[in-house]
Amino acid sequence: MTDINYDIYATKAVSNGRKIDGYGKIYFHANDYLKKIFEDVCVDRCKVLTVTGSGDQAFYLYNAGCESLDLIDINKLTMYYFYLRKWVIQYLNQFYPDEKINRFFLNNLLSKVVPKSNDEYISLEYWKLFLKNIDNINIENLFNFGMNPYINKIDDISLLRDKMGSINPRFYNKDLFEDIEGMDSDYNTIYTSNIADYKKPTVENFRPYLDNLCNLMGEYGDNVICANVLRGKPRNVEAQIFKESFVAYRIPEIEDKYISGSPGTIYTRKIIFR
Ligand SMILES: C[S@@+](CC[C@H](N)C(=O)[O-])C[C@H]1O[C@@H](n2cnc3c(N)ncnc32)[C@H](O)[C@@H]1O
Repeated sequence: MTDINYDIYATKAVSNGRKIDGYGKIYFHANDYLKKIFEDVCVDRCKVLTVTGSGDQAFYLYNAGCESLDLIDINKLTMYYFYLRKWVIQYLNQFYPDEKINRFFLNNLLSKVVPKSNDEYISLEYWKLFLKNIDNINIENLFNFGMNPYINKIDDISLLRDKMGSINPRFYNKDLFEDIEGMDSDYNTIYTSNIADYKKPTVENFRPYLDNLCNLMGEYGDNVICANVLRGKPRNVEAQIFKESFVAYRIPEIEDKYISGSPGTIYTRKIIFR
């Protein structure tokens, strides 16, 4: 089986509730409160690494003026969804796809796509094959529609398109808590979303995570941005370990009809005098 054939096999399996290593449900949109987080973050002209997730984090980072962006996720399907989102922005003038990713929607969208990079070309091939297999994919179960739909919608699509320019991000299919060999070590900012919520809060888990973040930032990094979606604040082990290298800034609490608590924490690099 070629890679894309295997990815379609895995897509069908995930959509039927099976677990396949390296694959998982795709977040249709973020549940991080990005609108609020990006009121407090400046990434102007920064080199940024973000978790791919639904792609929302990436589109917010482009919108906020970052200079270059790389993406990382343990779920291989997220790159394909990122490109689908990009095409929806680029060719349909919408921020989100229609929730019914059906034959009609895909046929129309894919006919417009002109890939500009190898990853974009592979993603187009994936979605074409997806379309051929659509009757065997349970789309409702492939996506995680989650909470707070559309809180992060970016309205000025033409401005976003301008800022994205001819984007050519790099994708890493890796676990940020494990081996990150081969990645750059000069990111100014890293957006980790709430991946820390998914790990057992032990020193053994969080020590390599912190080391990875410090290595990815090298001498150049300033900020690690974490979303606090599930608990509203970082857990004790995370806070303790991060204290070694970072100063925590909690984004002010929000009181909203639908959302409450803290949208996130920005860990700022401690200044090291040499
Ligand atoms: C943190 S999750 C949850 C949703 C998130 N709050 C959002 O709004 O996007 C987002 C993405 O992180 C990825 N992820 C989770 N743990 C990871 C890890 N240790 N390394 C890399 N990616 C991870 C998941 O596969 C998922 O696509």
